[in-house]
Amino acid sequence: MRKVSLLLETPLSESFRGRDFLSLHDYTTEELFHIMRLASSLKAQRNIPLLEGKTLGMIFAKSSTRTRVSFEVGMFQLGGYALFLNQQDIQLGRGETIADTARVLSRYLDGIMIRTFAHEDVEELARYSTIPVINGLTDLLHPCQALADYLTVYERFGKLEGLKLAFIGDGNNVAHSLMFGAAKFGVDFVIACPEGYEPDLGVLAKAREDAEKTGASIDIVREPKEAVHNAQVLYTDVWASMGQEEEQKERQKAFCGYQINQELLDVAAADAIVLHCLPAHRGEEITDEVMEGPHSAIFDEAENRLHVQKAIMALIMKGERK
Ligand code: CP
Ligand code: NVA
Repeated sequence: MRKVSLLLETPLSESFRGRDFLSLHDYTTEELFHIMRLASSLKAQRNIPLLEGKTLGMIFAKSSTRTRVSFEVGMFQLGGYALFLNQQDIQLGRGETIADTARVLSRYLDGIMIRTFAHEDVEELARYSTIPVINGLTDLLHPCQALADYLTVYERFGKLEGLKLAFIGDGNNVAHSLMFGAAKFGVDFVIACPEGYEPDLGVLAKAREDAEKTGASIDIVREPKEAVHNAQVLYTDVWASMGQEEEQKERQKAFCGYQINQELLDVAAADAIVLHCLPAHRGEEITDEVMEGPHSAIFDEAENRLHVQKAIMALIMKGERK
């Protein structure tokens, strides 16, 4: 494993400076591997003052455990400071525009992490900010999660290309980012979902474009068993995401049978791992038995959020402002 300082003193690292991190689709395969390499090095060398004196603002319009804690701890371990901003408590929640908020925050901070509803809002924030913006989850995407997931897969299998990832459930933000990642890394991606809960067509089209270059396949099927057949990675997420609370009952019916349980796991590759971005609804999309069982890599996956996000922040927030 290369030392953190050596990884950062490369032209590739330089090219990250000042960039936003809104979607895995915006980064090349080489760049995504570079983030993961740095994340692995940071995992071995936790406290390193790469962002000394820098401040990250963290805007949350939705709840969070992992994202909030891992970004805050990550900034601390990098020698910087993280500021929690509940959207309801800042003027943004009372109608101040995104454009004005972006320009003001850019005068105080060195980076912004935002978790909100509309993906377009994050794009607008990034457009008006003169500092890097990181997507901490939107209704459309969850890129930090997916990159931490691929790091977890890489740690277990020593490679990504040629593996098969089966996503069981909703074609949601997490599924979208995993799909973008699969296309970049040459991972065969298949989602098993009920009719009406397919991934976004725009995301699908962009992922398939990238997949053509890497040889990955991106498929949608109805049957969980068909998806999971010979898969090395089984993935699931909640049936109703944040903001869809009112659809909970309807979704519980629609997704009945879209559960990762022992019977489904038996169809996967013998060495398959199970991932879940968390929080989980045990007994719905995943059983207790599988979550606690030997194939689960779920808590390693949660830990990797910290390392991957530290790598992202170190690369894009280091040095002068954009
Ligand atoms: N996986 C994830 O983003 O978790 P939180 O909602 O707790 O941040
Ligand atoms: N799809 C879930 C992920 C939570 C981390 C949601 O958006 O609520």
